[in-house]
Amino acid sequence: MEIIDSIVELRHYLDSKRAERMSIGLVPTMGALHEGHAELVKESVRSCDLTACSIFVNPTQFNNPDDLLKYPKQLEKDLELLTMVGCDVVFIPSVDEMYPDQEKTITINFGQLENLLEGAFRPGHFSGVGVVVSKLLNVVQPDLAFFGQKDLQQLAVIRKLVKDLNIQSKIVSVPTVREKSGLAMSSRNLRLSEREAVVAANLYRVIDSVKTKILAGEQVLSGLTSAKVELEKIEGIELEYLDIVNSDTMSKVEELSEALNISICLAAYVGGVRLIDNLYIKQEN
Ligand code: PAJ
Repeated sequence: MEIIDSIVELRHYLDSKRAERMSIGLVPTMGALHEGHAELVKESVRSCDLTACSIFVNPTQFNNPDDLLKYPKQLEKDLELLTMVGCDVVFIPSVDEMYPDQEKTITINFGQLENLLEGAFRPGHFSGVGVVVSKLLNVVQPDLAFFGQKDLQQLAVIRKLVKDLNIQSKIVSVPTVREKSGLAMSSRNLRLSEREAVVAANLYRVIDSVKTKILAGEQVLSGLTSAKVELEKIEGIELEYLDIVNSDTMSKVEELSEALNISICLAAYVGGVRLIDNLYIKQEN
């Protein structure tokens, strides 16, 4: 596996592969890789001739400086995992390489998507994601770029970015990989104690049961209310939001007939760690 830290070098390497008519897949990450990331890379390896993965803890998407400082780093282990799953090249730029103008970069406004769910609780976050993903897509120019359903609103933001800026890469969404307990895999799970991880598994259990009830005919609002009551009763969980939304716009829905794609999304703190999760309730396009 090639390890590259400069944009010029990466472009040069990829141009030579494109000249051999190889198709290119990109998997952007912030490192501290787990099975969820591995699944994205495997999907790229299955679909493309060459797979590039980036590892960059992007400072412009952290609205909480403490979160940035605490972000786990385990480069050696990450490189081992990437080699094992067949990644061809890993791009590990420095902050200076990505932001030569000392992080004073442009911002992007995603409109309504900024005010809802994650956008409302993490001001500036999606602008940072949008800027760094634009840069990566520009540098790599992949045929396909892979993102996890785990970060559903991020996926909506990136689809909007690619559509509005006429970026040619196709965005592929990969289903959420979970622990046996149902807990969605996340780099932040490393900060949970064993006991907290058990408590956190309730997040998935509860949204899965709401999904089942709503698909069996329960009203959206009544399903949501009973789920909130249940989660608020569990010691150690501090719920930030729980909503049923249009998966493409993140606006709330009250009836399943209101949108083609509908999901249940939540954010909660467990032991001071902010976790998010979601499930598709229906996915028709
Ligand atoms: P990061 O949190 O490292 O996630 C990288 C990719 O892995 C994202 O597309 C995310 O949705 C996906 N992912 C994380 N956990 C997953 C799981 N359990 N199952 C499936 N996929 C999972 O998301 C980011 O980094 C950053 O915002 C980034 C897009 C790299 C921009 O900086």
